[in-house]
Amino acid sequence: MLPVVLLSHRGPASFRRTATGLTVKRGAGGLVTALMGLAEHLDEAVWVCAAATEADAAVAAEHEGHPVEIAFDPEPQLVDADTDADAPTLNVRYVDVDSDRHDMFYGEIANPLLWFVQHELYGLATQPDISAATHHAFAEGYVAVNEQFADAVVEEVESRGGHAIVLLQDYHFYLVGEIVRRRCPDAVISHFVHIPWPGPDAWRVLPTDMRERLLTGLLGCDVVAFHTTRFARNFLRCAQELLGLDVDMPAGTVRVGDRTVAARAYPISVDVDAVEKTAASEEVAERRAALASSLIADDRQLIVRVDRTDPSKNIVRGFRAFGQMLDEHPELVGKVTFLASLMPSRTDVPEYADYLAQVGAVVAEVNARHHAESWQPIDLRLQEDLAFAMAAYQLADVLVVNAVNDGMNLVAKEAVLVNQRDGVLLLSENTGAHEELGPYALTVQPFDLQQQADAMYTALTMPAERRREMLTAAAETVRRNDVQRWLSTQLEDLRRLETAKPRP
Ligand code: G6P
Repeated sequence: MLPVVLLSHRGPASFRRTATGLTVKRGAGGLVTALMGLAEHLDEAVWVCAAATEADAAVAAEHEGHPVEIAFDPEPQLVDADTDADAPTLNVRYVDVDSDRHDMFYGEIANPLLWFVQHELYGLATQPDISAATHHAFAEGYVAVNEQFADAVVEEVESRGGHAIVLLQDYHFYLVGEIVRRRCPDAVISHFVHIPWPGPDAWRVLPTDMRERLLTGLLGCDVVAFHTTRFARNFLRCAQELLGLDVDMPAGTVRVGDRTVAARAYPISVDVDAVEKTAASEEVAERRAALASSLIADDRQLIVRVDRTDPSKNIVRGFRAFGQMLDEHPELVGKVTFLASLMPSRTDVPEYADYLAQVGAVVAEVNARHHAESWQPIDLRLQEDLAFAMAAYQLADVLVVNAVNDGMNLVAKEAVLVNQRDGVLLLSENTGAHEELGPYALTVQPFDLQQQADAMYTALTMPAERRREMLTAAAETVRRNDVQRWLSTQLEDLRRLETAKPRP
């Protein structure tokens, strides 16, 4: 079986030095969770990622930059003599990036610039300003960091004899594929873009050389993969219109010199067993009991959202729509709470810090306008708490996912799996998840406050039987396309490509 070399910015585990020694925590975020399937299915895999903490960098240095073996037992730990021999393990190579470079790469180019262009978050009359500093951050941050990670990937491929499947992940590393292909011509390379890929006009926000470089970098791969066919088509249109390449739309391919590059869709999913196991845990039961007694006693209803505090998630408009629904239906005042568990995210990026402040302001405003005796309309928790999120999913009468744009949105998939109250999913038409779950959700249009307020009201007053039908069908859809399938179909396709690759 061909070995796999995986690259993502966040790694599967991160170390911390505490008073009692070295501790290890699982990496956060849906992408990392989805890729953990590798640990169970692939023996000869290495995962290259950024050292996220000083302790990650120290562990990497102790191993002279080589991969370290981490067991997931189920919590991560460095493999040593005491490790359970049956525990799945992963080889993780931490790349230590100079902090100034990393700030430019991550804090100025990846988030916000690429994230904002791809989620179409800019109000173009005033943003963005592409300045000399942006050009500098691109050259000295994004390009340099991509080159550094490409070196690490190349070393790992070469140490496996030059034959490997290379799985590059996300918007942090658009330039890596091209470099790896040049230096490892026998590798099969795929780049998975986990965020939306907009059409060519959206990319015209970026300077010509920058956008051409990003596209050319991706086109160094054999496959560029997305969560939806819409994003894959947009990518091909970009290759056609921005680079003048020859595209075969029905076949989903583009000619680049003498090579053919495929754009494909593989909708990511959740690990159904793992989600159900967590949902059944004691910790979740405790959180659920506490939430139930404080928020849904006396037949009260619950609207829930769980998100990172990211402008793409449309949290502010969601709260404004809720406030509007209460204005129009005063009979619901005191009868329904909007519980939001929000994880502060990328707070060192000014756009994110501003957005978090806007979230606080709208919550204060709606709560001041509508509070009643011993009840407040919005219960905002700024936290990262998986057990709490699961308990909230279970108790939700309505789950709000109204993102401006979202590559997939795994919250929607997790919540429909574990909900226990025939909850209704309000799902933005601009999420990747909408391609699969749209028929079993109330579709919301993310900019239409009135429509979102109406959809909340409809969901809260919908007959139980209809709610149950929709929830059951949504959960079945998620079960049919589990994350293992997401990974195995990609690997099968890439192995087929490897076999078909012309040999010198
Ligand atoms: C999204 C991206 C991931 C990223 C995650 C968390 O899901 O697609 O690549 O890791 O957000 O963001 P962060 O900046 O905290 O890694």
